[in-house]
Amino acid sequence: MRTSWAAYTIRGVNIGGVFLIEPFIRPSLFDQFNISTTSELPVDEWTFSAALGKNETRRQLEEHWDTFVTKKHLELLASYGINWIRIPIGYWAFNLTDDEPFVNGQLPYVERLLDWAREVGLKVELDLHGAPGSQNGYDNSGHRVTPEWLYSRANVDRTLDALKKMTEIAVKWDDVVYGIQILNEPSRWKWPISDILEFYNEAYNVIRGMTDDVYVMIHDTFLGPNEWRSLVNPNWKNVLMDTHIYQMFDNYMITMNDTAHIDMITDMSKDIVNFNSTNIGVVVGEFSAATHDCTKYINGFGTGNRWEGTLNHVDHPLCPFDNCTCTGDYSSNYTQFSTHYKRFLKSYVEAQFSVYDGLAGWFYWNFKTESAPEWDYLLGVEQGWIPKYCNFQLALICY
Ligand SMILES: *[C@@H]1O[C@H](CO)[C@@H](O)[C@H](O)[C@H]1NC(C)=O
Ligand SMILES: *[C@@H]1O[C@H](CO)[C@@H](O)[C@H](O)[C@H]1NC(C)=O
Ligand SMILES: *[C@@H]1O[C@H](CO)[C@@H](O)[C@H](O)[C@H]1NC(C)=O
Ligand SMILES: *[C@@H]1O[C@H](CO)[C@@H](O)[C@H](O)[C@H]1NC(C)=O
Ligand SMILES: *[C@@H]1O[C@H](CO)[C@@H](O)[C@H](O)[C@H]1NC(C)=O
Ligand SMILES: *[C@@H]1O[C@H](CO)[C@@H](O)[C@H](O)[C@H]1NC(C)=O
Ligand SMILES: *[C@@H]1O[C@H](CO)[C@@H](O)[C@H](O)[C@H]1NC(C)=O
Repeated sequence: MRTSWAAYTIRGVNIGGVFLIEPFIRPSLFDQFNISTTSELPVDEWTFSAALGKNETRRQLEEHWDTFVTKKHLELLASYGINWIRIPIGYWAFNLTDDEPFVNGQLPYVERLLDWAREVGLKVELDLHGAPGSQNGYDNSGHRVTPEWLYSRANVDRTLDALKKMTEIAVKWDDVVYGIQILNEPSRWKWPISDILEFYNEAYNVIRGMTDDVYVMIHDTFLGPNEWRSLVNPNWKNVLMDTHIYQMFDNYMITMNDTAHIDMITDMSKDIVNFNSTNIGVVVGEFSAATHDCTKYINGFGTGNRWEGTLNHVDHPLCPFDNCTCTGDYSSNYTQFSTHYKRFLKSYVEAQFSVYDGLAGWFYWNFKTESAPEWDYLLGVEQGWIPKYCNFQLALICY
């Protein structure tokens, strides 16, 4: 029997960019390509795999799966007070067709990670992060295309097949896998909520047909958890609502100054609360310390940024002051960060921990990156702008 979410606060990090690669988490994988020798530069795992071919993709990704996350990382996370990890995985690890460029072979590495999590004492959320046809069109779904997912029953069947296989893993690792996210960030701009809800109900039934107590985690489709109060199925049991909070993928929020960013977090404590009446807890499944979008490839490979005004459809710089450049505090080189900026990062992360601690819990995005300091939990703790929890049961922050 898995422990109830209400018994303690989930304090987690995402193990993102491992089993579903993302350009901004490991840019070096994408920087190997040369525009004069590659007809179209890869922007996601689909086009990365298509450019390299299956054999070379498998060779490079096997090495990536083997080395990008290690047992040492999990030991560090646990020693900093982290008690859960969220592991994003694409459908192709479970259900691949011959005509798709992706490769599989992730599962032995996923299972090794589950064994390490057990040894270190971490609980796990398995997160289906990419669905066939793409559920949102973002590179983080594995394929940056016009989303097609819900337009075809075959895509839905394959999504459910992936979830069935994830649940088989949860049944086998029932002391480790506490949650299954049925789908990351499906697009409500593309499909009506009612269609997404119908899929959620179907997926819920598939998982519940196999186990009663694994948490079924559902994403709020950026509608905000409270909007779901009237949508959730009253018969659902052991469900957690997942919401993602970023304050820089938005033309307005990126113009906010430091104080406004922190105030917006503090104000949320009034707005986001667990659904006590239906026993549904809310988790912030993704957030970071970033308040700018200067980070290399953060808006996707080959795109500009709002900060300096170089992104498509943004015609002027949107940073909150006059001299908008991606240098110094806003560079990817944390050794250039000012004391003032590091102090801000710390206040911003503390504000988030403190508000999200009042919910069922949270997962920082991401455990590690190659060169995105505000997105890198392990770096943030080492450099001092992310506080450790001395004793997570008591929620004491060690300074
Ligand atoms: C890309 O390839 C061209 C042609 O082989 C070569 O001249 C150029 O130096 C390469 N550029 C980089 C950045 O490797
Ligand atoms: C891929 O690897 C397989 C098995 O090692 C080999 O038979 C095949 O020729 C390789 N394909 C290419 C295009 O190199
Ligand atoms: C993928 O899912 C479909 C739909 O359930 C199923 O027919 C097919 O056999 C699955 N493919 C694999 C490789 O498991
Ligand atoms: C930050 O922005 C808020 C809201 O726009 C404004 O009231 C405040 O004066 C600003 N603070 C600074 C230090 O610029
Ligand atoms: C909801 O339940 C939690 C934990 O059981 C409790 O701390 C909190 O005060 C409750 N909130 C409301 C609004 O009832
Ligand atoms: C640029 O803006 C920052 C933040 O407001 C400020 O601290 C810095 O002094 C400015 N630099 C220049 C050269 O104006
Ligand atoms: C980061 O900045 C430091 C100090 O300015 C510099 O010595 C170092 O070479 C930079 N690192 C990278 C990877 O650019």
